[in-house]
Order: sequence, then C-alpha cells, then structure tokens
Amino acid sequence: MTEPLVLGIETSCDETGVAVLEGFNVRSFVLASQTEEHARFGGVVPEVAARAHVEAIRPLVHQALAAAGVHSDQLDAIAATRGPGLIGALMVGFAFGKSLAWTLEKPFYGIDHMEGHLYAPRLEFSAYKPPAVVLLASGGHSQIVHVRDWGDYKTLGTTIDDAAGEAFDKLARFVGLGYPGGPAIDAESEDGDPDAIAFPRALRDRPFEFSFSGLKTSVVTYLEKARDNDSLPPRADVAASIQEAIVDVLVEKTFNAVEETGVTAVGGGGGVLANRRLRAKLRGEAAKRGVELFIPSIPMCTDNGAMIAAVAVDRLRNGTPPDGLGEDVDSSMRLGS
Ligand code: KG4
Ligand code: ZN
Repeated sequence: MTEPLVLGIETSCDETGVAVLEGFNVRSFVLASQTEEHARFGGVVPEVAARAHVEAIRPLVHQALAAAGVHSDQLDAIAATRGPGLIGALMVGFAFGKSLAWTLEKPFYGIDHMEGHLYAPRLEFSAYKPPAVVLLASGGHSQIVHVRDWGDYKTLGTTIDDAAGEAFDKLARFVGLGYPGGPAIDAESEDGDPDAIAFPRALRDRPFEFSFSGLKTSVVTYLEKARDNDSLPPRADVAASIQEAIVDVLVEKTFNAVEETGVTAVGGGGGVLANRRLRAKLRGEAAKRGVELFIPSIPMCTDNGAMIAAVAVDRLRNGTPPDGLGEDVDSSMRLGS
C-alpha cells in the first residue's frame, strides 16, 4: 500500500512550520522562527506574528515541497492548524492551506494544534501506541491526557491559571533572562543548584491539575526580600530552583495519571518538553516504574508542520471526510471537542 503524501502547515504562534510527510515518514521539515522579531518586545506580539507568517508562508511551502522532492500535484491532502492559538497567526496558515487545497482540488484538514503535539512522538517511535498518558506542555497550554485510542482523548487535568511555558517565560523575564524564557532558564540552570531555594509545588492535593501563578508570586516575594537583605543568590541557583519547581509538578502529576489509568506508555509534546531537566526526570521516573517513555527530539517537541501533517495522515488512512473550505479557525479549540 502506498502511503499518503501530506503537506502540513503550522502557524498558531511564533513559528511558521511546514513539512511533507509520506505516511509517518518525514520527507521534509522546514521552519521560520520569529524569535528575533519578538525578542525586542520581550514576548510574542500577535500582530507581528501574523505579519511574519504572511511573509514566510509562501516561500516555506515551496521550500518544503522542493526539499521533499514532491510536486504539489502529487499531494494527497493539505493540513493546517485550526487552533488553539493566536487568531491572526492561525488565519494565515489556515487560509493559505485552504487556498492551496482549492487550487489543487485536494482534501483539506484543519487540525488541533495540541493533537499535533500528541501525535509528534509517532513520527519517531513506532512503538508509541494507546493506551497512553501524554503530558502536553507549551506556551499556552498544559494538560495531562489519557489517550484511550487515537482520536479518543480524556483530559485528566489542565492548568487552573498559567501554562507551564508561560510560567517559564514570565519568570525568565522577571529574573532578567529575557525571551524566550524556557530555553533561557534551561541554559542558565546548567550551573545552578536546583535545591538552592525551595519554591512551592502547588496543588499537591489535586492529582492531575497544575497551578503556576503562586510560584510566580513566591519568586517575586523571595527575590524582593533577598534584595532588601543584600543576600541575592546567584542567578543560576534561582533559575535552577524555578525550573525544578515547575518540572517536579509536571513529572509528579504525569505519573499520578499513569498510576490512575494503569497505562505502561507515557508520551510528551509541546515546547516545554524540550527542557533538559524535565526530559531527564521523566526518563528517571519511567525507568523506575518500568514504563515506556516516548518523548520526541527537541525540534519535534516545539511547534512544527510535521506534527500537523501526521494527524491528517491518520485521518486519510481511516477515511475521515475532509473539512469543508468554508471552515474557519478556532483560536480557543480544546482537545477532544
Ligand atoms: O509548543 P510551543 O513551541 O509553542 C506553543 O504552542 O506555545 O511551546 C513554546 C513554549 C514557550 O513557553 C517556551 O518558553 C517553552 O515552550 N520552551 C521551553 C524550552 N524550550 C521551549 N521551556 C522550558 N525549557 C525549554 N528548553
Ligand atoms: Zn505548540
């Protein structure tokens, strides 16, 4: 059986991602990052993001097709992120994908960004299969999902305030590490002591839910006091202690879900899964419990077009009818709805 050729487009936030898949085989994978454009504002500016996607999308699609050695006529489907994300940014990739599908008379699929993250490990691990518990942690969302089957998801818990990536980004800004905060804290932590400061681990009594706003308050209060007492610890220790507090709850709650569901497979996706400490602690805990861990390579954890195409490959394989070209983006889309 020949595998479908699918073009995937991702524009929900600050990366324009395009990829061509042949089944789950990645034929090409290209990205245009907007990090520099947003860095001078200290965070993602929605208008700037949308404009940068407009500039990047056409050349990037051409580049992805050329790198894959695929002519657009050969595609079996086109997929683009429908949501969740920044509405203006989403509209660029979604409209481009629909126009291309219309011009080429190919099926079009609008894909949930978080389902994309959940699928990403499938592109690197053939053994990654339901039932599984998947930790999804990105700049806008944090959730633990019980994957009963592909397409059958139960969200066991989400964050009640900030997403994990948002906590990294806000705290990095606060300690003067700039944007993007997650990678900056990750790097700064390398020489720091994770046990230097005991920041709080919130919502210990709620097994699958996260809260990161209390951590923010606690870091702010701690540093103000330390500054007043002239006892500021090295920034690497502060960064490592913040990272440890975030990572600990992500790991603890993921394995609470493993215990609750009895699954033997754990997956992960979203930009925060690029965090080295999180990856190491998940690995340690999985090994201790004899559970298989499926965390993709770092470029596959952060936003990309391949994860979007992967969901559409499955849609084609199981005969899901394509989406109409009258469909629109859904910036507040929720997994499983
Ligand atoms: O999934 P993603 O690329 O985009 C969204 O869908 O939001 O995730 C971006 C988030 C940002 O908050 C970023 O700071 C965080 O992932 N992130 C990290 C690391 N790399 C990216 N957080 C912690 N450690 C990292 N190494
Ligand atoms: Zn994402």
